[in-house]
Amino acid sequence: MQTINPTLVPYKTLNTGDKIPVIGLGTFGSDNYTPETIAQAVKTAIKIGYRHIDCASVYGNEKEIGAALQEVFAEGIVKREELWITSKVWNDKHNEVVQSCKQSLADLRLDYLDLYLVHWPFPNYHAPGCAGDARNPDSVPYNHESYMKTWAQMESLVEGGLVRNIGTSNVTIPKMKLILRDCKIKPVLNEMEIHPHFQQAELYNYMKENGVEVIGYSPIGSPGRPERDRTPEDTVDMEDPVIVAIAERLGIHPAVVCLKWAVQRGQITIPFSVKTDKIYNNLKGIVEGELTETEMEAISRIEKGCRLIKGQVFLWEGAKGWEDLWDLDGEIL
Ligand SMILES: NC(=O)c1ccc[n+]([C@@H]2O[C@H](COP(=O)([O-])OP(=O)(O)OC[C@H]3O[C@@H](n4cnc5c(N)ncnc54)[C@H](OP(=O)(O)O)[C@@H]3O)[C@@H](O)[C@H]2O)c1
Repeated sequence: MQTINPTLVPYKTLNTGDKIPVIGLGTFGSDNYTPETIAQAVKTAIKIGYRHIDCASVYGNEKEIGAALQEVFAEGIVKREELWITSKVWNDKHNEVVQSCKQSLADLRLDYLDLYLVHWPFPNYHAPGCAGDARNPDSVPYNHESYMKTWAQMESLVEGGLVRNIGTSNVTIPKMKLILRDCKIKPVLNEMEIHPHFQQAELYNYMKENGVEVIGYSPIGSPGRPERDRTPEDTVDMEDPVIVAIAERLGIHPAVVCLKWAVQRGQITIPFSVKTDKIYNNLKGIVEGELTETEMEAISRIEKGCRLIKGQVFLWEGAKGWEDLWDLDGEIL
C-alpha cells in the first residue's frame, strides 16, 4: 500500500490552540456501504497517512469504527494522541448531550473526543432512510433558547474532559451571531456544505472573521448522496469545464481538484471514500502541488448556489420549503 508521511499534511490552529489536520476522512456512507466497509476504509486511511476522521452517531457505524481504531492502535500504526476524532450529537439527543457523547465514546472505544459538534441546529428527528418529503409532526423551527441549553451541555463536556473542542454544524450567520453572543465556550469551527458550485462565501468569511474555522462537507459534491437529497436542478462539480480543465493540466481526477481548491482557499476538507486508490489520491492531492492563482480565481467564478444537502426532512409543519432552514433573508424564521 502506498503511504504518505502524515507530517506533510498542513493543519489549522483552532481558537483553543489545538491543531486539526486540514484533511479528514468522511464516514457518512449513505445507504451505499455497510458499517464494516466504512470501518475498513478508516483503517486503510490511517495506514495511508490520514490522522483525522469525521464521525457521527447518526452514521450508524461508530461501533465498527471503534473496533478498527483498536486494531490500528494494537498494530502500532498510530497512537490515540496522533489522531483527530470528531463525533456529533444527533437531533433527537439535544437534551441528552452528555449521554449521547458517552455513547459515542463507548462505541468508538475512546476516552476523549478531539471535537464534538451539534450536528444540526434543529432538534428535529427523522427516521433513517426516510423519503425526502417525510415530516415529523414534532419538528420545530430554530429556537435559540433551546439551542443554548444544548450548547451548555456541550460546554460541560469540555469542562469534564470528555471533549477537547466543541463546534457547530449547519449554522447560518444570524444563528452564529446569537451563539457567539451567548456562549461561555466559543465554537472552534462550523461544519458546513462547501464545494465549488456552493462556496458559501459570505458565511465562510463571517466565520473566519470571527475566529471560527470552517470544515467543508460534501467537498466533491457528494455524488453518492441519498435519493432524498437529489433534485433535478442539482449540478455536478466534477463535470464543470473549469474543474475538468485543471484536472487535465495536472493529470489528476476532478474530485482531487475540488479538494485542492478547498484547502488552498482555507477550509478543512473531509472527503468520503471507501476505495483505497481514492483515499490515497485525495491525501496526495493535499500534500503535492498547488493550483495557480488564475485557477483559484476561475474556480471562485463557478459558484452556482447549488446546495445539495437541503435538509428538507428537518422541516416543521407550516414551513414553505427547505429554504426556511437556511435564513436566506438574514433573519431566523
Ligand atoms: N455535518 C453534516 O451535516 C454533514 C453532512 C454531510 C456530510 N458530512 C460529512 O462529510 C463527509 C463527506 O461528504 P459526502 O460523503 O457527502 O460527499 P463527498 O466527500 O463530496 O463525496 C463522496 C463521494 O465521492 C467519491 N470520491 C471520493 N474521492 C474520489 C476521487 N478521488 N475520485 C472520484 N470519486 C471520489 C466517493 O466514491 P466511492 O463511493 O467510490 O468511495 C463518494 O461516492 C461525509 O462522509 C460526512 O463525514 C457532514
